[in-house]
Amino acid sequence: MKRIAVLVSGGGTNLQALIDAQKSGLITNGEIVSVISSNPDAFALKRAADNNIKTTVLNRNDYSSNREYSKALTKELKEDNIDLIVLAGFMTILTEDFINEFENKIINIHPALIPSFCGEGFYGLHVHEKALDYGVKVSGATVHFVNEECDGGPIILQKAVEILPEDTAESLQKRIMEECEWKLLPQAVNLFCNDKLEVIGRKVNIK
Ligand code: GAR
Repeated sequence: MKRIAVLVSGGGTNLQALIDAQKSGLITNGEIVSVISSNPDAFALKRAADNNIKTTVLNRNDYSSNREYSKALTKELKEDNIDLIVLAGFMTILTEDFINEFENKIINIHPALIPSFCGEGFYGLHVHEKALDYGVKVSGATVHFVNEECDGGPIILQKAVEILPEDTAESLQKRIMEECEWKLLPQAVNLFCNDKLEVIGRKVNIK
């Protein structure tokens, strides 16, 4: 059984999708044993507590640098013998040391079709504003392994939705969450937990 930690900063709807998938048997061979938030007020913490999952707050403001923050995070994850780290709306940049320490064990969900509308500064609603401003006809979500390049790691799964003429950033965000993110993330976690993901260079082979 793989031990999963979910890192959050906000509402935690992706965390909820993982909890629901675990309960309904869509995720096998894995268990969420820890939820860590960079924000003490994140609603995600309540979702975890309601489901008897251990919660930890590591407030970025309590640390002098990303390096010190990543060190504290590493300690916490090692103590819990974590096999898989899921970034589910986690808004803090991690150091290269952290990423190397957990190579091919960190996955992230991004609300766009990478390599579009990603990288530093592209998070949350802002991503959808940029996609609408650009005038793309499809957008979606991507689950990928995390490497040293922001949103640049090997892609595990992607799913697209069509953009409607009446879309606002809010309506697009909602549709991408419902139709893409909440489905893709549990699928990717299940594949990882069942050793179905093989990383070969930039590519992920699903066995
Ligand atoms: C999600 O849409 C996630 O894809 C996005 O933040 C939201 C978190 O929502 N992540 C990023 O933008 C990362 N660059 P949630 O807290 O309800 O899961």
